[in-house]
Amino acid sequence: MSTTTPEQRPADGPEPRRTRKDDHLRLAAEQWTGAGASAARRNEFDDLEFVHDALGGVDSDEVDLTASLGEWRWSSPFFINGMTGGTKQTTEINAQLARVARETGVPMACGSMSIALEDAEAAKGFAVLREENPDGFLFANVGAGRSADDAARAVELIAADGLQLHVNAVQETVMPEGSRDFSSWLRDVEDIVAHAGVPVVVKEVGFGLTRRALSRLADVGVQIADVGGRGGTDFLAIENARRQAGDYSFLTGYGQSAPACLLEAHADGHGSAAEIFGGPGGADGPDRGFVPTLLASGGVRNPLDVAKALALGASAVGVAGTFLDVVQRGGEEALSAVILDWQTKLRELLGLIGAGDVEAMRRTDVLVRGRLREYCELRGVDAARLARRAL
Ligand code: FNR
Repeated sequence: MSTTTPEQRPADGPEPRRTRKDDHLRLAAEQWTGAGASAARRNEFDDLEFVHDALGGVDSDEVDLTASLGEWRWSSPFFINGMTGGTKQTTEINAQLARVARETGVPMACGSMSIALEDAEAAKGFAVLREENPDGFLFANVGAGRSADDAARAVELIAADGLQLHVNAVQETVMPEGSRDFSSWLRDVEDIVAHAGVPVVVKEVGFGLTRRALSRLADVGVQIADVGGRGGTDFLAIENARRQAGDYSFLTGYGQSAPACLLEAHADGHGSAAEIFGGPGGADGPDRGFVPTLLASGGVRNPLDVAKALALGASAVGVAGTFLDVVQRGGEEALSAVILDWQTKLRELLGLIGAGDVEAMRRTDVLVRGRLREYCELRGVDAARLARRAL
């Protein structure tokens, strides 16, 4: 157990924030590349399997990859998830990501803009996103705990189309300079949603939004949430590596995966969820209330992972670490090529699976195996229904 008390924690401010941004970039990259790579390894997307129908395919040229979320229409059902900005190095990465987003037409989010709200120089590291991609879809990003006024300023700074609002209690707990009081977050979220001026997506950063959190969010007016699950970039390991003292590695593996969160979120059979489980009443037990429209992220490594998340009812899928690795090693041309390749392969996959569009993925048969199946059993999610949706 850590002996660090709140008084002993290092102060947060512009300089520690700058260092943190660069640390995150370096430590996240190490998780995806080289001998120590862990994030690219097996995760719970591997517990999902499509049931092949050798004669059920559709023409992949006819497949429509449009993602629909409320009023938004995206030409791609995957996007560059929130990562960075605000230092010299991260501004350059942001500029590269913004040009890739412009070239490929994918939506993009930036990393937390807290630093930009206090430091005009750092703000330029975010403004570059709009300069490089004037017409693309862009998310601003702040954490719960910021005021509604801060959130509105972040949106304004980059003329954002939407706001990502991250809830990252596990990360804060392990972060040397992190906060330990999350008791006001739900109220903060409610306030920000009411005043942001654009639609808000509440997201986790790799520990999952489980059913209870999602229905709490729906209760305070959140219409879209990204389950942000475990299995990819590991912020527990990143923050632990930044600590001088007080090891938190005992928490390794904490949280739930994106597939687990999607499965239990949709298990009650409301609205589109009814479709996902092939009719109302996918879960045993009492009605646990509505959940927002869902995005998925955390551990997405390839187009098959994207397809699996869509099949579990995600409206679109966020990718951070996998794309960061590509851009850091090969530059923006390499990332543009990878994204265009994913779009082609995703279209082919939907064709192979027999889904003419993203919606149709929700009616495909999916087998849930291994640890994920055990999770379903423990949480009262009827995974057998997913295996027979198309019958
Ligand atoms: C992130 N992520 C993140 N999320 C957020 O909402 N605000 C932020 O400032 C950051 N910063 C950040 C930095 C770096 C270097 C990475 C790689 C990621 C979290 C990100 O959006 C995502 O939730 C997690 O990384 C899990 O997804 P992947 O990486 O497994 O695809």
